Amino acid sequence: MERRDFLLTGCRACAALAAIPALAALEGCGSAKAITVEPPPGSNMLNIPMTDFAEQNAVRVNTKELGSDLLVVKEADGSYKALLLKCTHKGGPLKQEGQVLHCAWHGSEFDLEGQVTNGPATSPLKSFPASVVNGQVQVNIG
Ligand code: FES
Repeated sequence: MERRDFLLTGCRACAALAAIPALAALEGCGSAKAITVEPPPGSNMLNIPMTDFAEQNAVRVNTKELGSDLLVVKEADGSYKALLLKCTHKGGPLKQEGQVLHCAWHGSEFDLEGQVTNGPATSPLKSFPASVVNGQVQVNIG
């Protein structure tokens, strides 16, 4: 192998390795922090510490109770809402991409209010009541 070819191959390998952390950082861009929360025994309430909203206005909550994750969003007025991340077209999982909730199955998109912004879905996302109680965001999934 010529010296020039050796250097070119080495540089390409280094560039590829350097790109991996950068791609990982982009992947996390615009996505909510993800946590797992289960309701206390005999309760339909999910309790999410308000500190989880310190760096972002949304938290993705995994709970066995629902079968799909929730996106709990802090509104500009300080109130909270909880959206089921299940597409209303045919039940595909939704992924947050900035201010858009995207379904990879057929391309539907929803805003962070749960409203359809791009079909084929026609119905808004299912939502659950959320309120602040004792320093926690309480979501009623009952
Ligand atoms: S299931 Fe989401 S667009 Fe069809």
